Amino acid sequence: MTATRPRILTGDTPTGQLHLGHWVGSVKRRVELQDTHDCYFILANYHAFTTRADKPQDIRRDTVAIVRDYLAMGIDPERSTIFLQSEVPAIHELAFLFAMLLPFNRVMRNPTLKTEIETKGLGDTYSFGFPLYAVGQCADILAFRPVGVPVGEDQVPHLELTREVGRRFNQMYCGVPTDADDADHLKLGGVWPVPRAEVGKVGRLVGIDGKNKMSKSLGNAIFISDSPKEVEAKVKKIFTGRQSPTEPGDVNNALFQYVDAFIDDPERVAELRRRYAAGDNLGDGHVKVEVAAAINRLLEPMRERRARIGEDDALVLDILKKGCARANAVAEETLEMARKAAGLHFFPRTLSYR
Ligand code: TRP
Repeated sequence: MTATRPRILTGDTPTGQLHLGHWVGSVKRRVELQDTHDCYFILANYHAFTTRADKPQDIRRDTVAIVRDYLAMGIDPERSTIFLQSEVPAIHELAFLFAMLLPFNRVMRNPTLKTEIETKGLGDTYSFGFPLYAVGQCADILAFRPVGVPVGEDQVPHLELTREVGRRFNQMYCGVPTDADDADHLKLGGVWPVPRAEVGKVGRLVGIDGKNKMSKSLGNAIFISDSPKEVEAKVKKIFTGRQSPTEPGDVNNALFQYVDAFIDDPERVAELRRRYAAGDNLGDGHVKVEVAAAINRLLEPMRERRARIGEDDALVLDILKKGCARANAVAEETLEMARKAAGLHFFPRTLSYR
């Protein structure tokens, strides 16, 4: 069914429940991509150990919770493959090989790693595995030989590293000339295409504090699993600082970011903007009622899907097992090609679950 569609891969490190920021920033696009692409979504649960190795049970819980959120938001396991990084051994074998092809200092120059070391306050005590995750991410991607990787801006340095190691492998082991165009690597015998980073127009949603990016840890998030009442209460808290409905309002404030993101009717949005900017007796409270209703309209089918999945993990685990089996079929094939190219192939093998 999906075999002839171009393959893409993307994913998340499990950190907890998903919120509207995830929907606006990435998941909405993934749901759309299912119509045109053969989609692979990786749950990078090994990567979660870079900073939470002492909390394996939390990582496991968050991983299952993310799958529930994906399914609720409309990722369709019949069309897309949702899988666990920890169940695809080819990824880890490729990562070891890639670690030999990348200079250590090149990995450490990755600006996303540098930023994370700062923002997470890792100082100089981070584990050996922390920078290794960036090499691992190259393997997450190349194991699936995707043409593209839809990601946010912050992931672009990881994609650069992936492209570099992919080219180097194709050149070193597959005879691809060093001056070959990225687009020609497959044709010239490379194991993988040099995958593009597909950076969407950044849907970055501000939190209900009106200041910071929406984030679970900042306590300013509206979760996909919130009830209609919770949504209404949280939307009421969106901070604007405006005093009265007859005072000209700033249509670039946090509340209007929500108007733009969630109210579908462009004429209604234009009208709200005009009246708010003019101080035409349009209070924050009124706008908030419309925003909450729009968010609840978006979340309602997600609530229904979640209810159908049920509380028990059995269905989620069944979906994951099927996804992991599909993922391994592709990744094992890639690994066999890579091992042949690198002189590491001795005995063919088949990987399957019991
Ligand atoms: N590093 C990504 C994040 O934190 C998650 C991730 C892991 C990923 N492997 C990937 C994203 C491969 C795209 C492709 O969001």
